[in-house]
Amino acid sequence: MRSLASNLILLIATFIFACTIEATNIIPRSYIVEYADADNHDIINNDLSQYQDLYNIHHTYSSAIFHGMSFSLKDPVHTKPSNHRLVPVAYSTVNDKTHPVFNHLSIHPAIKRIYPIYKVPRPQWIPNIKNASHTFPYANQDSQILDIHLQLGISGKDILIGILDSVLLGIDYNHPALGGGFGEGFKVRYGKNLVSESSDKENGLTSLGKDDPYDPCTNNDAGHGTHVAGIIAGYDKKANFTGIAPNATLGFWRIFGCEGGAGEDTVIKAMEMAYEAGCQIINLSLGIENGWPEDAMAAVAENLSNKGVIVVGVAGNQGTNGVYSQNSPASGRSVISVASVDNSFYPANVMDINVFPEEYFPYMFSSNTASFPNGTLASIITDGSVPLGCGNDTTITSENSNGKILLLKRGGCTFDEKLTTAKEVGAISVLFYDPEAVNNALVVAKTKNDSLPCASIEKKLALKIIDYYSTNTQLINVTFPAAKQIVIPDTAGNISDFSSTGPTYELDLKPSITGIGGDVYSTLPHHIDSGWGVRSGTSMAAPHVAGCAALMIEYYSKQKLNVTSSFITEHMQNHAKIINAKSGIPEHPIVQGAGLIQPYDAIKSQVHVSPSQISFNDTASLTEYKTYSINILNSNSIPLLVSIENIQSNSIQSYANDTSFVPTEPALTNGSLTVELEFLPKRNLLLPPSSTTTVQVKVVLPNPNQLFYHYQMYGGFISIKNVETAESMATIPYFGVLGKMIDLPLFDTGYPYLATTSNTEKRLAENATFNFDLNRKVKTKPTIVVRLLTGTAKIDVKVYNENEECLGIISGGPWIYNQRNSLAEDNYDSNISWNGKFIPIKENQDEIIIEQEEPIGDNSTQVEDGTYYLYLRALKHFGDPDNKNDWKEWKSGPIIVTN
Ligand SMILES: *[C@@H]1O[C@H](CO)[C@@H](O)[C@H](O)[C@H]1NC(C)=O
Ligand SMILES: *[C@@H]1O[C@H](CO)[C@@H](O)[C@H](O)[C@H]1NC(C)=O
Ligand SMILES: *[C@@H]1O[C@H](CO)[C@@H](O)[C@H](O)[C@H]1NC(C)=O
Ligand SMILES: *[C@@H]1O[C@H](CO)[C@@H](O)[C@H](O)[C@H]1NC(C)=O
Ligand SMILES: *[C@@H]1O[C@H](CO)[C@@H](O)[C@H](O)[C@H]1NC(C)=O
Ligand SMILES: *[C@@H]1O[C@H](CO)[C@@H](O)[C@H](O)[C@H]1NC(C)=O
Ligand SMILES: *[C@@H]1O[C@H](CO)[C@@H](O)[C@H](O)[C@H]1NC(C)=O
Ligand SMILES: *[C@@H]1O[C@H](CO)[C@@H](O)[C@H](O)[C@H]1NC(C)=O
Repeated sequence: MRSLASNLILLIATFIFACTIEATNIIPRSYIVEYADADNHDIINNDLSQYQDLYNIHHTYSSAIFHGMSFSLKDPVHTKPSNHRLVPVAYSTVNDKTHPVFNHLSIHPAIKRIYPIYKVPRPQWIPNIKNASHTFPYANQDSQILDIHLQLGISGKDILIGILDSVLLGIDYNHPALGGGFGEGFKVRYGKNLVSESSDKENGLTSLGKDDPYDPCTNNDAGHGTHVAGIIAGYDKKANFTGIAPNATLGFWRIFGCEGGAGEDTVIKAMEMAYEAGCQIINLSLGIENGWPEDAMAAVAENLSNKGVIVVGVAGNQGTNGVYSQNSPASGRSVISVASVDNSFYPANVMDINVFPEEYFPYMFSSNTASFPNGTLASIITDGSVPLGCGNDTTITSENSNGKILLLKRGGCTFDEKLTTAKEVGAISVLFYDPEAVNNALVVAKTKNDSLPCASIEKKLALKIIDYYSTNTQLINVTFPAAKQIVIPDTAGNISDFSSTGPTYELDLKPSITGIGGDVYSTLPHHIDSGWGVRSGTSMAAPHVAGCAALMIEYYSKQKLNVTSSFITEHMQNHAKIINAKSGIPEHPIVQGAGLIQPYDAIKSQVHVSPSQISFNDTASLTEYKTYSINILNSNSIPLLVSIENIQSNSIQSYANDTSFVPTEPALTNGSLTVELEFLPKRNLLLPPSSTTTVQVKVVLPNPNQLFYHYQMYGGFISIKNVETAESMATIPYFGVLGKMIDLPLFDTGYPYLATTSNTEKRLAENATFNFDLNRKVKTKPTIVVRLLTGTAKIDVKVYNENEECLGIISGGPWIYNQRNSLAEDNYDSNISWNGKFIPIKENQDEIIIEQEEPIGDNSTQVEDGTYYLYLRALKHFGDPDNKNDWKEWKSGPIIVTN
């Protein structure tokens, strides 16, 4: 056994702590450790054997992509003499960082890194539950997939795609479109169940065991993984449905139970299993909003990519949150982050309205409605609007409503109350619309009361009906035909509102590419909508890209072309289609990445450009980021005369255009700031056949003296154009930031401030005295409230005494890789409370230095009566932790502690 105990060791492992302060999505007392070497497993196990009752191992990782383990800390068990029961010490009493196991690992030379474990939320999708039957998720003109199937005879044969899924999902492998079984000889060939037996038990289910990935959940919003799998590889001759790579083989790892999220360590374990099963592509329609590529999942996904696996993740569904809303794991540098564009059609139930012939209108049933009667629409118009239909509504009477369908407006009261009002006057059903709806989105009314059928209609239809009734007395008849119709949404071809914006906090260009994720038709579990339905989310866009990657891999292996996974990733970016905003100008690369994936064009093209995307970084960063060499490979047997052009997008104004530096949410994409690019040696080039030509690209920034540099993000696309045909041969997205990240204010005006735990909104005046009586309830603890305008790589809080001497740091910190705050109510600011204790540190030392003599339980110290100050420090964006000037500091007023 190796012993470290005899020496006094002052080694510090890289601590990677909480990404958000007091993050509720952190799994308490749980960590992932990364070993420096493959053979460190035994060393660590031996060294920890002395503490075997003090920790539980969750997963061990032992593969080319990751070596380490995840574990949770347990506290020493104390015997309570009074009742002879063993009672563990409450979690809060022992500080993680001084827990013997953590303490031991944090200074262990065999440990490379320690990560906290975040809870990965159930993947989100937008509940546009449009029932339908149709044949293909997308139109060929948008996706080129039918061209590949029919013209090239490529369908994903012998390509193995791993799916790690997610919300109430799992995969309904018994769905006929998914092969009807699991294992050898079936489409779903590999897979495991990583959901614990107890989790299934809590939901009244018997676990199917570790070897069966079948999702037994019966929830009505289940089926995320089934939908993803159908997009990638569904095939059902009877239903005439074909996914992107219908002949591909699938592996499925069930990581989410019927409820709640999953730990990042479980996702990482599934990544390792998928890698070891030989998956060439891994689809991760899941994520946590974290623009730092240093997150554990992103780091392991990056390792996977570097091992030649094409890892496809989501940009995220936080499009309304502004810049830096990228999700981990797709924030990993080589991981493909997929943005979403809205589909050009979807199949849906529609209604016919006799006064608007030749048109049909989508609708959505409430949660308790199964069918809707045909009938006549009541005409109740007051002040150019329809009633709310709440209990106090006197405009609705049996004279105007008996036997009719009522049109009501959302709001004022619950849907159930509206149904009760309608029923009382003899109405047969209720249609409603949302006056606040954006883009005519349909809402699913949650009704408990099934007194009357209820459905939502689009706002634009409601306004049309109101307009009609304002001038016509003839009543409208509405019918609900049984057959579905193909609907063309207003947003067809636009970037989806929900699609998260880049870049990462390291100013890596993200997202990488766009897939179709808004209004996608695919498979669902049997028990939902008879097994088929339309769903939206970047979760639906990622499998579009994963499926296309399978087609590309099959093509190159059939052609016996030995290409790498990074070639395929670059090539799909090179030949994506640039999506224009409504203005006709290309959407910014931090919104769409390289553009909409076009796999047929990519396969057919003999031109390849590397790198396939460029970040010019911020204006402070070194000159190395201002000039790039791009290599253009012409694999044609003839030379190509090309000209290189700069297609500019409108800039993104990421911060309000004033001195507040409040991020715009959603990101404001109408800035008109552009940059010129210089191409060296020249812009017109002859690319010789079968060879690579190198071109330098230099960005010419506007004159800083003439411009208000306000962190605008410029961007656009470098286009390699065939001079003869004027055709674009390849495009490369680029972007950069005008401004020095290090100068960005970290804290919003008025922050940080001191408050009490019980009322964090009531700010104490600056330098006001805080009386902290430790005998009173915990609710009166001093609490620092911060609101971060940009991400910070590190925050810590130190305790100083009256004489300005540093005693130590407060527990919980340091907090590393923090996400900025947003305008959302639950993330507007963050709190750090002080319990009157500190962990001693050496003078001038920022880290906890643990002297490895004898590990102890809790070495945090309670302060004595006296006056204290809290010093908070946050590292500026791109700051150097060793440079004092790169920190932003804040000091509290005096805190008078009485015990
Ligand atoms: C099946 O789908 C294809 C392609 O979308 C279409 O051309 C064909 O008419 C469909 N067949 C049936 C029977 O619906
Ligand atoms: C699957 O592959 C087989 C054999 O290569 C081919 O005949 C069939 O058409 C493919 N299926 C689809 C749905 O493309
Ligand atoms: C009825 O009550 C709702 C909610 O309290 C209110 O919004 C609405 O204006 C009231 N309507 C009438 C007609 O008084
Ligand atoms: C509307 O429906 C009613 C029965 O609900 C019917 O009597 C009437 O003729 C219909 N009107 C038109 C214009 O079809
Ligand atoms: C409503 O009318 C359509 C024909 O327009 C018919 O197909 C459908 O069955 C009717 N619905 C009901 C519930 O009667
Ligand atoms: C941008 O510059 C910073 C420091 O100047 C560096 O840490 C970061 O990695 C750079 N980002 C990219 C994408 O090169
Ligand atoms: C494919 O290329 C890689 C390096 O680019 C090489 O290591 C590998 O051996 C090649 N495989 C074949 C089958 O040629
Ligand atoms: C932002 O403010 C500056 C200075 O007040 C002004 O010169 C500039 O035109 C503004 N930019 C935009 C996009 O409004």
